[in-house]
Amino acid sequence: MTRIVCVAGARPNYMKIKPVLDALEARGAEVVLVHTGQHYDPAMNEVFFRDLGLRPADHFLGVGSGSHAIQTGKVMAAFEPLVAELAPDVVTVVGDVNSTVACALVTAKAGPLLAHVEAGLRSRDWGMPEEVNRVTTDRISDFLLAPSPDAVDNLRTEGYREDQIHLVGNVMIDTLLANLDRARSSGALERYGLTPGSYGLVTLHRPANVDDPAVLTDLLKALGEVAAHCPLVLPVHPRAAGRLAAIGVPGGVRTVAPAGYLDFIALQSAARIVLTDSGGVQEETTALGVPCVTLRENTERPITVSQGTNVLAGRDPVRIVSTALSLLADPPPARRPDLWDGRAGERIADVLLAAGPAHPRPTSRLSQR
Ligand code: UD1
Ligand code: UDP
Repeated sequence: MTRIVCVAGARPNYMKIKPVLDALEARGAEVVLVHTGQHYDPAMNEVFFRDLGLRPADHFLGVGSGSHAIQTGKVMAAFEPLVAELAPDVVTVVGDVNSTVACALVTAKAGPLLAHVEAGLRSRDWGMPEEVNRVTTDRISDFLLAPSPDAVDNLRTEGYREDQIHLVGNVMIDTLLANLDRARSSGALERYGLTPGSYGLVTLHRPANVDDPAVLTDLLKALGEVAAHCPLVLPVHPRAAGRLAAIGVPGGVRTVAPAGYLDFIALQSAARIVLTDSGGVQEETTALGVPCVTLRENTERPITVSQGTNVLAGRDPVRIVSTALSLLADPPPARRPDLWDGRAGERIADVLLAAGPAHPRPTSRLSQR
């Protein structure tokens, strides 16, 4: 039997790993779920296990917060002996957080094959810690599981072998589609005291947006102006909580605790507009057909702009307000990219299990050029 370790550790990992884990187990693989503990507050962690029906992790590394080096190093130090003990055939990592790259680095030197779910996304912004994590993880992965054709193009341009690259679709959307009806009928809007189409939803957590008080002050000014046209709800990420409280949010912007998954999907699907710097939220708004203003200069998910409802507005308050007002007046048409169809996890499981146990590691990861 093929033994596969699946790694999760931070909020956006749980919804990505769940469909992969389910599809692997449905096909008879032995799956070991490892939780690094990068996120640990109940609102950033337990609620997702509950909402998604994700079984408890088999191993919890409990690393917690720290600088990049400390957090990455702690995951590596805790994961290395576990990989030696478990001796899996494959380790699967998702996304671009520190837990992803840490477990990837350990795996690449330990022997099991390494599979990266969400391979090939590139913002080309090396100021983002996630870009370092994405490129590093792809470079040492055996299976590159790409969500969209642009990601495949990036991998080909970087010289990866064709047999490593698999266009599988978007696991985030698997989980969204599997839970949408449940979210919509959960009574979340009533609990928040909201009616459909009467509010906008905001998330902010990128270091470039929330760590510098001057940048955050400008963003809040823009949100205040948008809120004059459409009241805004902002579930606060713990990274931003202190600075938001210190600066103070403008009138019309209501802050709430980080939302659970079902609540957040309910809030997104009934919003008039979403303003965000989240990667996953850009994808979910595209799948839901909800207008999205991305508060960043770039995106590693360009398909949400070319095919979806996403518009990049950067950090300039004037541009943010004018973008939001034009999307409110003239919402873009909804179009869901190919393979964002709820079956990416199944395609991933098929790829991983076709390789079989003890698949030999290739001697070269890049094609010879
Ligand atoms: C991390 C990921 C980011 C992802 C985001 C999703 C990296 C480098 N960054 O960013 O890519 O988009 O998660 O939400 O991996 N904190 C708490 N409670 C928690 C977790 C964090 O209070 O449960 C606070 C701590 O003060 C911590 C800070 O948030 O220092 C940042 O947490 P960390 O996991 O380092 O990065 P995120 O900003 O959450
Ligand atoms: N999300 C949530 N509650 C919130 C904010 C986001 O459940 O208060 C969900 C969102 O629907 C998506 C995922 O968390 O599925 C995105 O995670 P996040 O924005 O933290 O990280 P990123 O995608 O930017 O890495």
